[in-house]
Amino acid sequence: MKHLLKLADLSSEEILSVLNLADQLKYERKNHVEHPYLKGKQLGMIFQKSSTRTRVSFEVGMNELGGNALFLSGSDLQLGRGEPIKDTARVLSRYLDGIMIRTYKQSDVEELAEYGSIPVINGLTDHCHPCQVLADLMTIREYKGSFRGLKLCFIGDGNNMANSLIVGGIKTGMEVAIACPEGYRPDGEICAWAERNGKLLVTDDIAAAAKDADVVYTDVWASMGQESEKAVREKAFCGYCVDGRVMALAKADAMVLHCLPAHRGEEIAEDVFEAHAQEIFDEAENRLHAQKAVLVKLLK
Ligand code: CP
Ligand code: NVA
Repeated sequence: MKHLLKLADLSSEEILSVLNLADQLKYERKNHVEHPYLKGKQLGMIFQKSSTRTRVSFEVGMNELGGNALFLSGSDLQLGRGEPIKDTARVLSRYLDGIMIRTYKQSDVEELAEYGSIPVINGLTDHCHPCQVLADLMTIREYKGSFRGLKLCFIGDGNNMANSLIVGGIKTGMEVAIACPEGYRPDGEICAWAERNGKLLVTDDIAAAAKDADVVYTDVWASMGQESEKAVREKAFCGYCVDGRVMALAKADAMVLHCLPAHRGEEIAEDVFEAHAQEIFDEAENRLHAQKAVLVKLLK
């Protein structure tokens, strides 16, 4: 593993190896065992979009690993005034040991990795959110014991989360079902890849997707950068709320996950969210452990 640009670049073995290390780091933290694997290392964190979990977990994670993290707001960097990504990459490579970037275009993340000489981590683009899905997989395995025979159902927008969940789900051997309205399907190339490599259903039939699901996942209908489409999207996604009706179709012991932030009453009903808050906040906590594992794999 040289970078984490998207989950598709990782083999199933590499994904499992990150998850195993994340479990170990979680165990050590719980037992107050220090693990300064990245002593003296510097991580730059470029944010061109907002963040609570990604920012805090990367920053705390670097500190707990004995290193340091620098928050670099996209609007404060010269990047925000038009300095090219490829120049930013070469400059930052002279100071830092790794870069985490949250931005819009996946191609910007790829360019940063191409021109820089240090590991690059994708902290979310419009295309995918690999760090989140590593934490999601960790949480699923924690609750279910293994991935074998599980059905992962995602209800909502075929967005960055759906794209990464399809790849992560298929690579760990789960069956994946996506329920979304026509016009809001996940990436076509990812779907084609998934169909060749595992079991994927993409449908506008919520009942078919949710039926006998072990994991029900949802995310906002309007992602960061799509704020102006909010009203149109609310109309398009009418009926795509994870509520009691959806949960009645899933297995009785189905878990519910949400990458957060959540919009109660839109993509998820308040009662479903609160009934599954334990899983959802374990999932949020696991961002820290999964990210630390990625950092150790790439920066050590
Ligand atoms: N789930 C997630 O990436 O959260 P933030 O946007 O708060 O980082
Ligand atoms: N799809 C959401 C995920 C936030 C973590 C977004 O891109 O805004």
